[in-house]
Amino acid sequence: MELIVTVHQMQQYAEQQRCAGRRIAVVPTMGYFHEGHLSLIRRARQLADTVITTLFVNPTQFAPGEDYQRYPRDLERDSQLAERSGCDVLFAPSLDEVYPQGYATTITVHGITEKFEGAFRPGHFQGVATIVAKLFLATKPHVAVFGQKDWQQTLVVRQLVRDLNFAIEIVVAPTVREPDGLAMSSRNVYLSPGERQKATVLYRALQRAHCLVKQGERRRLVLVHAMEAELRQVPELSIDYAAAAEAMTLEEPEEFTAGQTVVLLVAARIGATRLIDNDLVQVPSSEDACA
Ligand code: PAF
Repeated sequence: MELIVTVHQMQQYAEQQRCAGRRIAVVPTMGYFHEGHLSLIRRARQLADTVITTLFVNPTQFAPGEDYQRYPRDLERDSQLAERSGCDVLFAPSLDEVYPQGYATTITVHGITEKFEGAFRPGHFQGVATIVAKLFLATKPHVAVFGQKDWQQTLVVRQLVRDLNFAIEIVVAPTVREPDGLAMSSRNVYLSPGERQKATVLYRALQRAHCLVKQGERRRLVLVHAMEAELRQVPELSIDYAAAAEAMTLEEPEEFTAGQTVVLLVAARIGATRLIDNDLVQVPSSEDACA
């Protein structure tokens, strides 16, 4: 596996691959790999001839007071794991390489960025949209693989790709979970053993609402209240939001309709750690709802 650290070299490499008729897949990441990241790299391996993983902890998507400084980093370990998972190139530019002196451009995606994560993390999606566009321009992929864990981010990226005419296919791969249901996240390392155990309540909240939908419940607020009730079982948890929305638009109708795909979303803080998770569920027709 090759390590590339400059945008110029990355663009040259990508151009050579394209000229040789090779299909490029990119997996954008902030590093500190866990099985979730590695599953994205393996998925990319199935989709393309050349797999590029980007590793950059992007300061502009962290709001003031968030965990940018302490975000876990381990380039040596990440390189080994990426290579073993089938990555051809690790693109790991420095801060100055990405945002050199005088850098002055940002990308704002309106609408879909304004609720949920966008409401709780001011500037977050502007940082995400800008860095994702820059990573796409550096790596020139045909396909990009993102994790479902950051569902709202995948919608923002889809909107960005549509609006700016990036000829890139966006693939969303399922969330990888610990055996007890906790979604894998680089931030899980912040959790104390006690917090780690309590954090599983996010998954239980999603499961509870998922079951209700499968049983025929279509009222949005009933789903939201069920998730909140489950989350409140852990008093140490501070809930940012529990929400149910139409999966592709994030619209929040009073009632969902048969055939719609609903995304259930939760975000909460436990101690100094902020966790998010989500689940997709299709609304059954009245005949298909289970008892
Ligand atoms: O999902 C992430 O790890 C980041 O938001 C991304 C897409 C790599 C942009 O920094």
